[in-house]
Amino acid sequence: MKPIVKVKNLTFKYDKRIEEETLSDLSFTVNQGEWLAVIGHNGSGKSTLAKLLVGLLEPEEGSICIAGLNVNDTMNRNGRSHIGLVFQNPENQFIGTTVEDDVAFGLENINMPYEEMVKRIGKALKLVDMYEFRSHDPSRLSGGQKQRVAIAGMLALKPSLIILDEALVMLDPKSRRELLSTLQHLIKTENITVISITHDMNEAASADRIMILEKGRIVKSGSPSLIFEEQLDLQPPFAERLKRELITRGGEFPENYMTEEEMVRRLCNYCLIV
Ligand SMILES: Nc1ncnc2c1ncn2[C@@H]1O[C@H](COP(=O)(O)OP(=O)(O)OP(=O)(O)O)[C@@H](O)[C@H]1O
Ligand SMILES: [Mg+2]
Repeated sequence: MKPIVKVKNLTFKYDKRIEEETLSDLSFTVNQGEWLAVIGHNGSGKSTLAKLLVGLLEPEEGSICIAGLNVNDTMNRNGRSHIGLVFQNPENQFIGTTVEDDVAFGLENINMPYEEMVKRIGKALKLVDMYEFRSHDPSRLSGGQKQRVAIAGMLALKPSLIILDEALVMLDPKSRRELLSTLQHLIKTENITVISITHDMNEAASADRIMILEKGRIVKSGSPSLIFEEQLDLQPPFAERLKRELITRGGEFPENYMTEEEMVRRLCNYCLIV
């Protein structure tokens, strides 16, 4: 596996006069095609990490290399178009007067030919289920719709690395599940790398790996099964909670963590037997 993101001894603080660091000595890599979920309490430094990864902030110490390029090297500013970032607050991300214009903005910036642009915009808006809103004013959309448009704008650029900072937080549970599975499918077929910052344990559970930040430090990193088995103070994903509840009611289930899919299969078999 090829690492596409390499973070080494990354340290950052907003106020140089204060001793306490916002991020302290973070080192990690993300492989190409991997989905890494970053979780942690409010203020643990997740959004700060996202901003450092895309070069919106500069590290105090350490280095960030993406696809072989040092993010903070001014020479590499143009190389950043292969990184897509969607923030937690979509309000601040709109520029266009229609949804379509807004998605077009990033493509115009890279001088894409008109016909190719129209194709990409249509495809991206369909992926997030917002095609019928293409002529609407983005400022009048609901929070969840705005997030979908922001995601479409990012997908239209076909980035090789996607960073989602609570990008699905305003979506209702059903839409969130649907969009998550659309993204997962796209990511697997196009070999895109994802770093998803989230408080949603179901979203984190669908990642390949979970990294936990606490007060600006990495305290744990591992597969969802490892994290949810060991980290008892975390609210586990729905499937795990259901399993624990069924065990207390006399159900027989394996001790180890089960994904939603495994749980569904297990319950279906169980119903067939009963
Ligand atoms: N622009 C800023 N100036 C000064 N301090 C900041 C700034 N932005 C964030 N901080 C501080 O840095 C710390 C980390 O904030 P950050 O936004 O990275 O947390 P987070 O993990 O994303 O939290 P949340 O889950 O609430 O989104 C917090 O203590 C916060 O108060
Ligand atoms: Mg945040």
